Amino acid sequence: MRRYVAAIDQGTTSSRCIVFDRQGRIVGTAQREHRQIFPKPGWVEHDPVEVWRNTEWVLGAALGNSGCSAGDLAAIGITNQRETTVVWDRTTGEPVYNAIVWQDTRTDQLCTELGGEQGPSRYADRTGLPLSTYFAGPKLRWILDNVEGARAKAQAGDLCFGTMDTWVLWKLTGEHRTDVTNASRTMLMDLRTLRWDSQICAEFDVPMSMLPEIRSSSEVYAEITAGPFAGAPVAGILGDQQAATFGQACLSPGEAKNTYGTGNFMLLNTGTTPVFSKHGLLTTACYQIGDAPAVYALEGSIAVTGSLVQWLRDNLGIISSAPEVETLARTVPDNGGAYFVPAFSGLFAPRWRPDARGVIAGLTRFVTKAHLARAALESTAFQTREVVDAMRADAAAQHLDLELTTLKVDGGMTGNDLLMQFQADILDVPVVRPVVRETTALGAAYAAGLAVGYWSSLDDLRDNWTADHTWTPDMPESERTQRYSEWNKAVERTYNWS
Ligand code: G3P
Repeated sequence: MRRYVAAIDQGTTSSRCIVFDRQGRIVGTAQREHRQIFPKPGWVEHDPVEVWRNTEWVLGAALGNSGCSAGDLAAIGITNQRETTVVWDRTTGEPVYNAIVWQDTRTDQLCTELGGEQGPSRYADRTGLPLSTYFAGPKLRWILDNVEGARAKAQAGDLCFGTMDTWVLWKLTGEHRTDVTNASRTMLMDLRTLRWDSQICAEFDVPMSMLPEIRSSSEVYAEITAGPFAGAPVAGILGDQQAATFGQACLSPGEAKNTYGTGNFMLLNTGTTPVFSKHGLLTTACYQIGDAPAVYALEGSIAVTGSLVQWLRDNLGIISSAPEVETLARTVPDNGGAYFVPAFSGLFAPRWRPDARGVIAGLTRFVTKAHLARAALESTAFQTREVVDAMRADAAAQHLDLELTTLKVDGGMTGNDLLMQFQADILDVPVVRPVVRETTALGAAYAAGLAVGYWSSLDDLRDNWTADHTWTPDMPESERTQRYSEWNKAVERTYNWS
């Protein structure tokens, strides 16, 4: 009897594996962090070999501590940090360069060149994305242009490109495949046909032979070829934010979730027709179950939220662990007039300003490290408010059925009570967290389990969703308005820096 489904979550800061039972409860988990490599200001890399070793280790450890063997596993799902780009040799399996991480801004100039006279929106009607350093296509082009010998090998068909899902699948099974959600973050896929766009690939100067085969998010891709889990089918792949949307059971148009991770990512299910934003949001593939039509989402991506707390810990040293940020912030009643705009990778949605760099505004001698801790937490909530405002504006303009009566949240920072209350206050919308907070891994497990009949329908997933905690707005409108307008003034100070 196959009792469990496992999900590998290859994230920005760590790789994890979680084993779930049929009710979506966690029965085993393991996690290992990898190095963040910063070769120059604005550059962010990971070592793909280290990431793979960690992934292999967490898979074994999670299955071990859940007390199950490969025979207990109905399927394995993969979810991953999106856009992060790896290129490797098809024969030796050796990466030709470090993985270039989604936060990396080295392709800023390249993106301007690729936009030409049409500017950042050149490919938006086909890909749903503005030309930005965020996406994989420009990163792949950078590797081909800058790594010695890479272009010649790529043209000879000797190199493979992949986002992290593809790298992990290839290492597990030897197959070179991806799913529609990850492919939709490359800028190389046509969002309507769900196929690589040969014209865009030509304009990016990317040989199509190095691209993985695009599949749905829920089907058997291949079986694990070696090791203790040989024979277990890999049957679900979703980019991590799409996986969280699936894990939160946002399965009908109009349902949305917000994940608080390294960055923040809010996705609104818009059904089987892609909706194109006029207010700075992305259009993205949300999931595709086997042969069924793909479901799309509008997305508000924020580059820096949880990683700002890490930065306070690692770069400023004003806290020694991430949870301490709440303890420190609680020692003061408010931000003391300070606003922290963490535009470390420029600003993503809804502003898309690659030229922006971080600022702390409103400083006086009164301000202490506790106020900075508070301002850092508040920046997450203010940035989310900008995304929610953009979603409402798009919904109104395009007559979408979106009545955001509550915001479903997940991710590490939803354990921060101060932030969640402030989020409800600044949005004036109740914020609700489910019992199973590991919605990203759960979504990938659901996709894998559906493919092999472990779960029989989407209703099983809806039935598993239960609310754990709700934060209710409790801030006078005048205060909300004043704080948000001060935030907006601070954001304008970040422009035209880079
Ligand atoms: O688009 C980037 C996103 O997928 C990263 O997510 O959770 O690894 O910060 P996370």
